[in-house]
Amino acid sequence: MILVTGGAGFIGANFVLDWLASPGNEAVVNLDILSYAGNPETLASLAGDARHIFVHGDIGDSALVARLLAEHRPRAIVNFAAESHVDRSIHSPGAFIQTNVVGTFNLLEAVRAYWGTLDGAAKSDFRFLHVSTDEVYGSLGKDEPAFTEQHRYEPNSPYSASKAASDHLVRAYHHTYGLPVLTTNCSNNYGPYHFPEKLIPLMIVNALAGKALPVYGDGQQIRDWLYVKDHCSAIRRVLEAGTTGEVYNVGGWNEKPNLDIVHTVCALLDELRPRTDGAAYSQQITYVTDRPGHDRRYAIDAGKIERELGWKPAETFETGIRKTVQWYLDHQDWVANVQSGAYRDWVEQNYGERVA
Ligand code: NAD
Ligand code: TYD
Repeated sequence: MILVTGGAGFIGANFVLDWLASPGNEAVVNLDILSYAGNPETLASLAGDARHIFVHGDIGDSALVARLLAEHRPRAIVNFAAESHVDRSIHSPGAFIQTNVVGTFNLLEAVRAYWGTLDGAAKSDFRFLHVSTDEVYGSLGKDEPAFTEQHRYEPNSPYSASKAASDHLVRAYHHTYGLPVLTTNCSNNYGPYHFPEKLIPLMIVNALAGKALPVYGDGQQIRDWLYVKDHCSAIRRVLEAGTTGEVYNVGGWNEKPNLDIVHTVCALLDELRPRTDGAAYSQQITYVTDRPGHDRRYAIDAGKIERELGWKPAETFETGIRKTVQWYLDHQDWVANVQSGAYRDWVEQNYGERVA
């Protein structure tokens, strides 16, 4: 048994689906609070599968987590649960502190107590894998080398600061209590089941709806993109062979300016689902007011995980983005279902105040 937290969100759900697609893997207890970003429909294909036990709850609920640990006795925990959207962290930082900092702390406390009850191989083989982000390292200048695991923490948004705090707590629980932790810091993910408030799915969904494609500022901010299934394979590899107490940066060596990403999405849609009027989707691009404190560049040096654990991404950006655009074209019901009233309120809050 493993315990996955946040397994109804974008990356967590991809991880659970991939994990259970391998016949040899253990069952999963999936603890998720089902925030706006959590979507049980993503896990619909697991209905009736006894290897998936979904629990609706909060990582910060110590009593619930203690009960789950005592009952299921997992040999590992993979912690995806978090508030994850930078723009939301600018509007409402409190929720980020609550889940990412206090929630992770409460989770660690419950796990420490449980781990203390184990002995022998169960104790030494236990793992707590904390899923984190490259955003904790701050923003790079144009010519600076990519982030290694030694890069100093310089988080700039309430989101990245809250993730940095959680990383520090995880580190401290290893250093102080010996808890066998692993931390992964990954670059921007994209792929199936990505909530359409993040750049790539938002552009696909807005393009198809004939809406503006809102590019913040000059669109020259750089992100390093990784197909979500490659992130999942990296997590499986770190869980299997990572050295406890170590940090592994995960990335696909795919730095791209946002504007290039938007043009790539538009060109794929021109090919796969041309506009009825024959015009290019790129005509819908609109430059809007920049994000406050917008980090200019992220780039991951994934050399350590490649050298030490032999992990490499399977997809290039070109293959991954084509699969992603095709997935959204094939799953418009999923998109329609996540665009609830709450989603529309967010779009109004985030974009209503930006000047085109
Ligand atoms: P997401 O926002 O899509 O999903 C987060 C999930 O966590 C949701 O299902 C939500 O309901 C759940 N959740 C939130 N608060 C919770 C709580 N208190 N208790 C239990 N469940 C809770 O996020 P994502 O993009 O899938 O990211 C997953 C993890 O990976 C996060 O920790 C994020 O920081 C990290 N990460 C994301 C990216 C990326 O590009 N999306 C890149 C690197 C790292
Ligand atoms: P996002 O997907 O929110 O990820 P992050 O901020 O965690 O990197 O945004 C990716 C980049 O795209 C980021 O530089 C902000 C930019 N962006 C836009 O230009 N327009 C948008 O509507 C959104 C959501 C993001």
